[in-house]
Amino acid sequence: MKQSGASASSATFLNSSLLDAAQGRVPARQPVWIMRQAGRYLADYRRVRSLFPSFMDFCRSPEHVAEVTVQPVDQVGVDAAILFSDILVLLPPMGLQVDFKEGKGPVIANPLRDDAVIAALPEGNLNSELGYVFEGIRLTKKALGNRVPLIGFAGGPFTVASYMVEGGSSKELAKLKALMFSRPEVFTTLIGKLASVTAAYLCEQARQGADVITIMDSWAGYLGPNVYRDLVLPHTKRIIAAVKAEFPHVPVVHYANGAPHLLPHFATLGADVLGLDWRVNLGDALRAYPKQVFQGNLDPCNLYASPDQIRAKVKALKAEVGGRAHVYNLGHGILPDISPDHARAFVDAVHEE
Ligand code: CP3
Repeated sequence: MKQSGASASSATFLNSSLLDAAQGRVPARQPVWIMRQAGRYLADYRRVRSLFPSFMDFCRSPEHVAEVTVQPVDQVGVDAAILFSDILVLLPPMGLQVDFKEGKGPVIANPLRDDAVIAALPEGNLNSELGYVFEGIRLTKKALGNRVPLIGFAGGPFTVASYMVEGGSSKELAKLKALMFSRPEVFTTLIGKLASVTAAYLCEQARQGADVITIMDSWAGYLGPNVYRDLVLPHTKRIIAAVKAEFPHVPVVHYANGAPHLLPHFATLGADVLGLDWRVNLGDALRAYPKQVFQGNLDPCNLYASPDQIRAKVKALKAEVGGRAHVYNLGHGILPDISPDHARAFVDAVHEE
């Protein structure tokens, strides 16, 4: 049996089911959490959100971060908290200005368009500028007590690079892929720096009390298998190895959206858990990787259906999982107009005998 580590000891928590499942042990009650679980579908989240005109200012307020991080634990019954923050908080310390515009998503005022700017980007440890995140972790840990573990996270280096180069959300990632295919050495400089910054950032999150680490490389699925293998995989591997070297017992979850074709590569990353989106047949993935723990993967739109219909979907998912350790979740973030009752129906259905 694997031993648990200092900050992620199962014995520390009243509910350690996430740590158990992530480390391959089958808990009595399988764990469930929801991507974007602290979000607009909760009235109490909207109340706190309305105190801040700017999303980044909200992220920079540790007291409010702790408050909304704990809300879904209290109100929905999930088995883990995930720190309320964003993958793009790394951009300002790297010199890129990011703003979240209503209905438009993130907008970067000075996207990377010049190789010399990429060459001059900082690399390594930027933690001194991210103190508000670590204070948020400390306050959240206090507020959670020993109830459930806290998940820390960062974006995968490809996904963060996509925002830096595209300047915001993008349909094709054409600018980033143009860079990869025309000047791979410049792309490698960029993703190498991101990997170093991200590794230091995630290690500090674990040091400050994050019990589980998630890397969200949401847009990796935009790449074909070979280019992913050659230009991205080594960097994500290095991030995971850095966390594991210092925090061997902190489980690492890797998530990508729309990337079933990359599963053979993800399986070599050294992550404890692989997050799947709903396009993957979970039973097929479990059969193909008999020793791998997965996370997912209900289509978030299932939560528009009735609680009875949600329960039936969860039952089918459980039948596919069988007796394996599994981390139940949606295949991507919960949508803002989902009823909290339906989110609870999902969580309760996972917990049902
Ligand atoms: O899961 C949680 O509850 C923790 C909070 C969290 C947020 N973003 C809060 C957020 C997490 C884990 C993220 C990760 C994130 N951010 C990802 C990876 C996961 C995924 O969804 O694929 C990505 C790609 C981003 C980038 C990002 N941030 C986008 C594209 C947007 C705009 C889209 C949207 O949902 O509005 C954001 C903004 C954002 N991040 C919001 C929240 C609650 C909404 C901002 C607002 O309130 O105005």
